[in-house]
Amino acid sequence: MTEKNKTNEKMDRRQFLGIAWLTATLALLGESLAAVGRFIQPVSDGGFGGWVKAGTLDEFPPGSITQIKAGRFFLSRLDDGSFIALWQRCTHLGCSVPWIEDDQKFNCPCHGSVFDKLGEVQGGPAPRPMDYFEQIKIEDGEVWVNTEEAKERKAFDPSQTTKA
Ligand code: FES
Repeated sequence: MTEKNKTNEKMDRRQFLGIAWLTATLALLGESLAAVGRFIQPVSDGGFGGWVKAGTLDEFPPGSITQIKAGRFFLSRLDDGSFIALWQRCTHLGCSVPWIEDDQKFNCPCHGSVFDKLGEVQGGPAPRPMDYFEQIKIEDGEVWVNTEEAKERKAFDPSQTTKA
């Protein structure tokens, strides 16, 4: 093999490795972008981030609190029959807040914030009431909640509820 052929073979090998490296990098970048895209894309097929079917009207008697896991909220039906949808996220540092039926309170397991069935703070470090989802619709006897945007508030107000 001549010296010129060896040089050409080296260049070919270098070019091949360069192209292989570039291809692998672009593939990895593409995979990463696709994963990020899937993560931040709002869900609109009935999951959190879009309209979520909570159930039928008769599943929510006045005075009840029902967790809707697919929507990450609690549907609170007040004594007058109206609804408020409370995001399950604690307004202190974001832990999921369970409803404690025996105490008739939401009790955050992380730092002890307590909220009533309207989502108002009863104790602990939470700086404001539980956020709520403003849009609730009732169609053909089914209750739907739009989980696209949670609203912050300073206190409960009846304007935050939806009449059945
Ligand atoms: S995250 Fe709920 S009290 Fe701190």
